[in-house]
Amino acid sequence: MTARRPLIAGNWKMNMLKADGVALAAGVAAKRKADPSLACDVLICPPFTLISEVAKAVEGSGVAVGGQDCHAKTSGAHTGDTSPAMLKDLGCGYVILGHSERRTDHKETDAEVKAKAAAAHAAGLVAIICVGETLAQRDAGQTLEVNASQLKGSLPEGANADNTVIAYEPVWAIGTGRVATPEQAQEVHAFIRGELAKKVGETEAAKMRILYGGSMKPENAAQLIALPDVDGGLIGGASLKVEDFWAIARNCA
Ligand code: PGA
Repeated sequence: MTARRPLIAGNWKMNMLKADGVALAAGVAAKRKADPSLACDVLICPPFTLISEVAKAVEGSGVAVGGQDCHAKTSGAHTGDTSPAMLKDLGCGYVILGHSERRTDHKETDAEVKAKAAAAHAAGLVAIICVGETLAQRDAGQTLEVNASQLKGSLPEGANADNTVIAYEPVWAIGTGRVATPEQAQEVHAFIRGELAKKVGETEAAKMRILYGGSMKPENAAQLIALPDVDGGLIGGASLKVEDFWAIARNCA
């Protein structure tokens, strides 16, 4: 029905020192190599410190590497920041942008996420743009309007199915063990696709991948990934163990 190839993306967040990170990446690469017919793209987003090592560990396996954030500028006086070109230079193909932890910890706004996504595109990276409502917003019946507004504010001009992936991550499901029900996920994913169509056109919106993120685990991944408008997952906790991450990816067989 859908021509969208799922994406299974691991977001390691601020976890892993060198030895464990390299072992984890090598473990995922070995699984990928042993499973050539797997019908999804597999991505690892380690912390900046491990991007080089992880890129080496997965080389030739088909596993892609991404950053967890980038700056909106190509270079310059921005102490502590990392430009999209630097990520690309290390072997990244993707970058996660606007994750709710960055929106909270670093007060990132939609406008900043949009500027970063435009810069990521210019550097040849695929931007994974995250949106999602808090529990208070869901309880207040604002879920759809919050997601629509974040999407509208964060999606740059020129976004298309090749350079952009959307991740719907309800904030109340991230790291909490409380996962969205299939009905809740499908409702928001279908809604997001409709909103995308207004911005990029129906054809492009139909091709664009929308990932679910928030306590996706081996036990609940199958039913989420099978939903018509869910095109894979952005996985935090369960991406830190080869077996768990791979059990999720295997749902795309
Ligand atoms: P989680 O994180 O799988 O640990 O809930 C998902 C994410 O924040 O990307």
